[in-house]
Amino acid sequence: MTEKPAMATLPPPDVTVTDMTKRFGALVALDAVSVHFESGTFHALLGENGAGKSTLVKCLMGYYQADEGDISVNGVTQHVTNPRHAHHLGLGMVYQHFTLVPSMTVAENLVLGEEGLSSVINWKEHLEILEAFMQSMPFRLDLNRSVSNLAAGEKQKLEILKQLHLGSRFLILDEPTSVLTPDEADQILGLMRQLTDENRISVVMITHKLREVEAYANEVTVLRHGRLAGQGYVKDLTHADLIRMMIGNEKISKPAVRTKASRREIALEIRNLVVGNDKGLTAVSDASLQVKEGEIVGIAGVSGNGQTELVEALSGQRDEESGDIFVRGEKYGKTRSEMRDFGINMLPEDPLNNSCVREMSVAENLAIRIFDQPPTTYAGCLINRGAVRRHGRDLIERFRIKTQGPDARIETLSGGNVQRTVLARELAGDVEVLIVQNPCFGLDLNAVAEIRNRIMEARNGGATILLISEDLDEILELADRIIVMFEGHFVFETSRDKADVHEIGRHMASHI
Ligand SMILES: Nc1ncnc2c1ncn2[C@@H]1O[C@H](COP(=O)(O)OP(=O)(O)OP(=O)(O)O)[C@@H](O)[C@H]1O
Ligand SMILES: [Mg+2]
Repeated sequence: MTEKPAMATLPPPDVTVTDMTKRFGALVALDAVSVHFESGTFHALLGENGAGKSTLVKCLMGYYQADEGDISVNGVTQHVTNPRHAHHLGLGMVYQHFTLVPSMTVAENLVLGEEGLSSVINWKEHLEILEAFMQSMPFRLDLNRSVSNLAAGEKQKLEILKQLHLGSRFLILDEPTSVLTPDEADQILGLMRQLTDENRISVVMITHKLREVEAYANEVTVLRHGRLAGQGYVKDLTHADLIRMMIGNEKISKPAVRTKASRREIALEIRNLVVGNDKGLTAVSDASLQVKEGEIVGIAGVSGNGQTELVEALSGQRDEESGDIFVRGEKYGKTRSEMRDFGINMLPEDPLNNSCVREMSVAENLAIRIFDQPPTTYAGCLINRGAVRRHGRDLIERFRIKTQGPDARIETLSGGNVQRTVLARELAGDVEVLIVQNPCFGLDLNAVAEIRNRIMEARNGGATILLISEDLDEILELADRIIVMFEGHFVFETSRDKADVHEIGRHMASHI
């Protein structure tokens, strides 16, 4: 059992990192970084992709051992050797991806992580303790609900509640709001802020969203190329200050310019598509749509409304139950050669798992689409390693992928740089049909602008684009036509000129 009374009495941990350096081979991921995470504050950690943010918090949590530097908790130097040790010091981390067991209830998930849990659980006693714990929280969940029925925002709350229940009083959140709607994000960050204001917890939040920093954080630390680039109280800093600290003298790419499309043939058509999910339920119901050349159709919706199954059906990762897909009027069977002949490029969600081979190098992952084509292949079957590496180097440079080199394993790249790698592969050649899901997920400010520009350029050049995104701002910026997906149905459609954010938002929340 965790000792709950302490939560009410002792202040949350005060953590100081001094001159922390972490190297991966020749790469210095963190270079003598010092930060004071004051007890009871909401501290934001900002920085470009690959700046060292995740590395810093992983060192704090004992996943990585720093090469140099000190960590002190409440003034006592600690050598944090593993996450369990960090947990004993009151430090806990909420990951970007959910770690809950979907088939279990809220109560079971809360109890699951408890240390020293006996094999026979006294549920009556546990439920009483959990009820009392819930009552002490500013946000509550029904203990008996099954996790599979929770919305993304509720799951995120449960992840946070789980850490608090386990006794963590110093919560690290690595890009916590990327799976949430803006309303859900505001609600959760508001509650986190309330808990820090009441001096019940300390929060460290990694994010790329300046709006969230300005609205909820007290203090901010900015990293750039592994070094400390700036630090201060949020109230003393302007928006421009934060951007300058993040990107230095680099220029922010200008928003994408939409040109008038000339060619207007229908290039992608989905007719009466029905797709099931892993549980055998219908995820996409009788969906039909047409996308023209030089058009971006944006599919808006809260995550979990069938978007992933739709993309999986289009990419050939999942068989549809019925319906047809046509490209340029021809039935599309989703084979590799058809993808190549039709010029179809795809970016699914979670690209590290869905469209990369983790154990392969960056260059090899960049060559996945062309490895059986000359010049990467010669004599019909032999792979020309030099050509793979040269092709990799070229894309690494053009898309500014931060990696130790073309031979580095893709899984050693930071989250945003994995995303860039897959985008480089999919956007580099001639793009005729592009299907992208959350393309800017986890990207820093400049990379977001750059990628949106490239998508718009492809459209202006006549490409046919289906953009599936949970980021409504992104849809509003890029799409010529907007469709809302809710519970597997396309429930609403509007052209870009007539788009009304509130109306779209209403349809995203429920079919009315
Ligand atoms: N296990 C590892 N092996 C080798 N290099 C690594 C490893 N983990 C991180 N790196 C490198 O350290 C640097 C910092 O990575 P980190 O994940 O901390 O960035 P980040 O600031 O979290 O970026 P993002 O916003 O993209 O998530 C990157 O260049 C990354 O490639
Ligand atoms: Mg990261």
